[in-house]
Amino acid sequence: MKAQAVNFFDAHPGTADLRREVIDGLSEHPRAIPAKFFYDERGSALFDRICELPEYYQTRTEMKILQRALPELVDLIGDECLLIELGSGASKKVRLLLEQLRPSGYVGVDISKEFLLASTETLARDYPWLEVHAACVDFSSGLEIPHCDPSAHKVAFFPGSSIGNFDPADAIHLMADVGRLVGPGGHLLIGVDLKKPVGVLNAAYNDAAGVTAAFNRNLLHRIRDELDADIDPAAFDHYAFYNPDEGRIEMHLVSRIEQDVHVAGRSFGFAPGEGIHTENSYKYTVEEFAELAGEAGFRQQAVWRDDNDLFSVQLLQFGDAAVVP
Ligand code: AVI
Repeated sequence: MKAQAVNFFDAHPGTADLRREVIDGLSEHPRAIPAKFFYDERGSALFDRICELPEYYQTRTEMKILQRALPELVDLIGDECLLIELGSGASKKVRLLLEQLRPSGYVGVDISKEFLLASTETLARDYPWLEVHAACVDFSSGLEIPHCDPSAHKVAFFPGSSIGNFDPADAIHLMADVGRLVGPGGHLLIGVDLKKPVGVLNAAYNDAAGVTAAFNRNLLHRIRDELDADIDPAAFDHYAFYNPDEGRIEMHLVSRIEQDVHVAGRSFGFAPGEGIHTENSYKYTVEEFAELAGEAGFRQQAVWRDDNDLFSVQLLQFGDAAVVP
């Protein structure tokens, strides 16, 4: 069978968005830049390396849970669905689903254009029976996705606990957008990282090989290269820790020295030890996440976890009596 061409839709945030959000973020106190800007081509490749690290249990644990859950999942979802993968990157997990669920169509949605194109083209080549679409969108600002057959049973797949990178209120908004996309009776299959001993969490975000540090600093590489800024990534330290009050890992980039950096004609002074907050990664109990999903109109239909309770994969169903914020 001949591979289908990938249908491509591009609403990818450009340099103007990066410039605006970086200037806004550096003008605030405390300073913060959204984590979505990690994912240019280099950042996505670094994230792929993180997924292979011994300390970063999430990817391999989720994969094992999915493998075990598949027979039950196929029963609960049925066949001929339209599978919409949010944050598709170079995901191997979706291959498991494609092979077992045999959906009628697949839509890969990602902010990283080069990665999205490469991964959807590979899928189209490897699964010639599958209709493949690619939508390059920043889904943190709405889920406008074309190619969606209104009558199809839609299943959104959001693996990797990327939901943890949204503050709880934004996570509810995003899931409510997903609810509108999949419609009543539609599904969200989501990976959710669980609360666990702090030592395990801190090690996962401070790996011995320094890949997470490089991933964090990649934000400064992007600012330097794309915005022509005189910022030196090596003048900032990677700092990541679990904040138990907020139930989240926080990542920061902390200035080693007193320095001024110039971005798009603006000057920003840093004292030694002054930081930029670059990422939150929320951790939930299964019950806490049920409450969050409920606020977006979803109910937990099934929850699978590993034997050590590190991670969960949850099948959520959107109800027609949903209260959508
Ligand atoms: C993509 N996301 C779920 C990762 C996380 O664990 O929050 C991103 C990451 N940041 C540092 N390491 C991995």
